[in-house]
Amino acid sequence: MAILKTHPKAKSAKPRSQILILTASIACIAVLYLVSSLLSTNGFSFSTPRSIRDPKNRHTLHEKYLYWGSKIDCPGKHCDSCEGLGHQESSLRCALEEALFLGRTFVMPSRMCINPIHNKKGILHQSGNMVSEERWTASSCAMDSLYDLDFISNTVPMILDNSKMWHHVLTTSMKLGSRGIAHVQGVSRADLKEKVPYSNLLLINRTASPLSWFMECKDRNNRSSIMLPYSFLPSMAAKKLRDAAEKIKALLGDYDAIHVRRGDKLKTRKDRFGVDRSLHPHLDRDTRAKFILCRISKWVPPGRTLFIASNERTPGFFSPLAVRYKLAYSSNYSSFLDPLVENNYHLFMVERLIMMGAKTFIRTFKEDDTDLSLTDDPKKNTKIWHIPVYTKDGQEC
Ligand SMILES: *[C@@H]1O[C@H](CO)[C@@H](O)[C@H](O)[C@H]1NC(C)=O
Ligand SMILES: *[C@@H]1O[C@H](CO)[C@@H](O)[C@H](O)[C@H]1NC(C)=O
Ligand SMILES: *[C@@H]1O[C@H](CO)[C@@H](O)[C@H](O)[C@H]1NC(C)=O
Repeated sequence: MAILKTHPKAKSAKPRSQILILTASIACIAVLYLVSSLLSTNGFSFSTPRSIRDPKNRHTLHEKYLYWGSKIDCPGKHCDSCEGLGHQESSLRCALEEALFLGRTFVMPSRMCINPIHNKKGILHQSGNMVSEERWTASSCAMDSLYDLDFISNTVPMILDNSKMWHHVLTTSMKLGSRGIAHVQGVSRADLKEKVPYSNLLLINRTASPLSWFMECKDRNNRSSIMLPYSFLPSMAAKKLRDAAEKIKALLGDYDAIHVRRGDKLKTRKDRFGVDRSLHPHLDRDTRAKFILCRISKWVPPGRTLFIASNERTPGFFSPLAVRYKLAYSSNYSSFLDPLVENNYHLFMVERLIMMGAKTFIRTFKEDDTDLSLTDDPKKNTKIWHIPVYTKDGQEC
């Protein structure tokens, strides 16, 4: 008031006081905001941090969380016996579907384990006639080196299990007591979604089968419940892997592709008479160059560029196919793949994107009715061990 009185012009007092009030209110709001954000980081209230409020990550219900564990399909402490990429992806997809179904943010393992038998250096490092048994030494890799996590988050909101946010969720869940966290095993999805207390909990800690998370999705007889397609995770590859695949696809131009699974799939064991038996009795035959040439001739015309992705490590194994096709492997592009690819999962993710871009793509096993495949053996483990077959009757080509 004193200021106003001493001021010579009374008229200017009015606008000035309005400015003062405005400034004071702004300051007040700012202080309130500061206090509330301080309180929330101290765990008195639960708010979502800025990074998750990013407009492209605007989701519903991102304030309840679903945790399945820190390692996918990893029964041992040291991950020695974890499964290959495809197997782990099925499991991760099962967990992501549950998060979608429950409307919860998924707590993503920050690393994926790599089984040493799935980590032989590929045809990427073949030189001359030497069969290289060299391996990549990694036993795990960062999830964000495999996938574009922002991309995944657009469909299934997620946070990493090494993030500050996860730490915040955990400490908050403990403070909330019985409303905070439940450790569940074998509880149905529908119950987790609808039944109290689960539906209201901040955090659900699902103990899934340590052997295979996807067991949780196995007995789901209702296929119409929310499903992510098989192609979901493959297409979510990390940007540098997607860029590499795009570059190779551009160099290949118009091409077809085959995925030839040999390696571990050819495993045989002896029966009690000492006779070799295999779960896929025609696979070894059907994935040899001579038989491939015959089988694919009705789908791939001569002269086409054929991209071959395979875990077969014998040099020149597929060379006979060159009589009819222009062959290409990831090894043709090692000059720019080498610096980028740190393990076999990275390599396979690039190869898979290339295969997805082929005009005609032929899998090893038929997975869908519309699939073209190299063999008629079922992919599924029938648990029946047959005597492998190497001959073929009739000449179809
Ligand atoms: C989740 O539950 C399992 C089994 O009860 C337990 O061993 C694990 O420590 C729990 N994890 C968290 C983060 O609470
Ligand atoms: C299957 O799932 C759909 C969608 O979630 C639901 O509407 C339907 O009632 C379910 N059917 C059965 C038999 O549970
Ligand atoms: C890829 O490399 C092989 C030799 O390893 C060669 O025969 C073939 O022509 C190359 N393909 C392309 C598309 O460059």
